[in-house]
Amino acid sequence: MAAEDPATPRVQVAEQPRLLKLKEMFNSKFGSTPKFYVRAPGRVNIIGEHIDYCGYSVIPMAVEQDMLIAVEPVKTHTLQLANTDPLYPDFSTTANNICIDKTKPLWHNYFLCGFKGIQVELAEICAKSERYIGTEGGGMDQSISFLAEEGTAKLIEFSPLRATDVKLPSGAVFVIANSCVEMNKAATSHFNVRVMECRLAAKVLAKHKGLQWDNVLRLEEVQSKLGISLEEMLLVTEDALHAEPYSQEEICRCLGISLEELHTQILSPNTQDELTFKLYQRAKHVYSEAARVLQFKQVCEEAPDNAVQLLGELMNQSHRSCRDMYECSCPELDQLVDICRKFGAKGSRLTGAGWGGCTVSLVPTDILSSFLASVHEAYYQGNTSRLAREKHSLFATKPGGGALVFLEA
Ligand code: GLA
Repeated sequence: MAAEDPATPRVQVAEQPRLLKLKEMFNSKFGSTPKFYVRAPGRVNIIGEHIDYCGYSVIPMAVEQDMLIAVEPVKTHTLQLANTDPLYPDFSTTANNICIDKTKPLWHNYFLCGFKGIQVELAEICAKSERYIGTEGGGMDQSISFLAEEGTAKLIEFSPLRATDVKLPSGAVFVIANSCVEMNKAATSHFNVRVMECRLAAKVLAKHKGLQWDNVLRLEEVQSKLGISLEEMLLVTEDALHAEPYSQEEICRCLGISLEELHTQILSPNTQDELTFKLYQRAKHVYSEAARVLQFKQVCEEAPDNAVQLLGELMNQSHRSCRDMYECSCPELDQLVDICRKFGAKGSRLTGAGWGGCTVSLVPTDILSSFLASVHEAYYQGNTSRLAREKHSLFATKPGGGALVFLEA
């Protein structure tokens, strides 16, 4: 007999009364046989009550009593739940739009929470995994990949990871246009230098405001520790940082540390050779961009008559800030953004890490076809290498669904 994975042992269901009962009920309810069973034990906490969520250690143990679930993967997007106890009624819902009614303690909510939780966990694992390539990304890509739902964008909040629908106004679509300039995030230090500049800015701002700065890693932490608005953070930035680039020596003086400490405790291996860091510009971009995200969400919620105009303006401001303050654009992206605006986009900006890659433009639906034709002519037509890739480089798109597993029929 082949060795078994202890977490997935094979059992003779006929010999296990509880499993057998479960199998029979499953069959009479759904007319099919479960493909696998899951067991999760109950637990008892021996000592340490109400302190785990405060960060302190506890001593629980699993008990022999358990919960059993019989599962059959289905090809539809419908989750169908049934309980052997008739006290708990059957429940079904669509898997790509899980809505948990928190007003009532319904039994099936626990299942739905697990389903949602796994999606979040997978997103965090994938974000952590990406760092092995050498870049210090933030987790946006992985989060939206798992948490996306058709028909809506999402506000993704971090620590803890949360996603909230942001319904985009009707009357306009997003058009993606590839600049056909490639920047390999993993092979160059552009990306990590920015991550480091933000980290250094956070530390210098924290120190300036008299906060414990050495464990501060993110600009958001400075804001939340101070308990002030993003607009106020922008004023603090004006006050505490200067526009001239900071040398490593100046950063050491600001933080009261040695060059050795700067290298070993703060900078990453691929940013240690940078001679200067722009802290003011990066912090200014981050706090102002964070404020624009909230304004964007608010416009979508309030949906005024000029929503498309307002959203477009926020996108344009974002591009300017990326270009001038964060310096993550490139001449081709700037040219493409100008072309898109010239031919009727209400807003256009670089999207993703930048230094190449794509733009996203907000385009009124009624001019979409002329817009696509004009951008084609202005950016792609005269250039053979761009033209060769144009089919996959210029298109309108809508908010789509998230990651899925497909099983062969
Ligand atoms: C990359 C990273 C993301 C995010 C963006 C910039 O795509 O993977 O985490 O930082 O850049 O917004």
